[in-house]
Amino acid sequence: GGPRSLAGRKAVVTAGPTFEPIDPVRGLTNRSSGKQGYAVAAALAQRGAEVTLVSGPTALSAPPGVTRMEVESALEMKAATQAALPADIAVLSAAVADWRVDTVAGGKIKKGPGGPPTLALIENPDILAGVAAPGPNRPALVIGFAAETTDLEANARAKLSRKGCDWIVGNDVSDEVFGSDGNAVLLVTAQGAEVWPRQSKTAVAQALADRIADHFKSAQ
Ligand code: C5P
Repeated sequence: GGPRSLAGRKAVVTAGPTFEPIDPVRGLTNRSSGKQGYAVAAALAQRGAEVTLVSGPTALSAPPGVTRMEVESALEMKAATQAALPADIAVLSAAVADWRVDTVAGGKIKKGPGGPPTLALIENPDILAGVAAPGPNRPALVIGFAAETTDLEANARAKLSRKGCDWIVGNDVSDEVFGSDGNAVLLVTAQGAEVWPRQSKTAVAQALADRIADHFKSAQ
């Protein structure tokens, strides 16, 4: 019900950091809190969508009505995201580590006289580009995020075309965003760019969910 209902729509959302193991006790990660992605998952579920949230390690609890798949590495996140398809909507907001350790040690790496180990890194797959690639499983609406400190609009627009997604939510991370409750964003689509006022991550998520619902309404 309601003009902005997403009842009957399926969505997959990625959120949080990834954790790339080095050995059984160590790993590489980043400072993503997952708050923005969790808020998007909650907002879509509130509008009646069937939401799968693929989450890296965070301190957050699953929003009501959302099915959460907890993952650690980028490779696990990619597999869980693909397993959640087909879907109508993909919002990939996770801060996926760009690199992972090439050969994960089977046992704890020991400190020793040989000095520190050298970690060889290899690139992680781009989950967003994979989901946005043309194919039978491509969601009708694929949305990515772009965290930038400079040239937000130009970088967001470049990311839109490079990754093949439909919308990019550009994030100005030059001031407090990571772990914070506020966010200043720009919505970039093929039609143009809109600057949204700085608002809470919950408000950004509600506004995005409204836009998503409007998109499906006008596409009918
Ligand atoms: O290239 P960059 O990491 O800035 O792109 C950010 C967008 O791409 C986000 O939506 C992020 O979730 C997604 N991404 C991804 N897989 C990666 C890297 C980024 O899905 N390996």
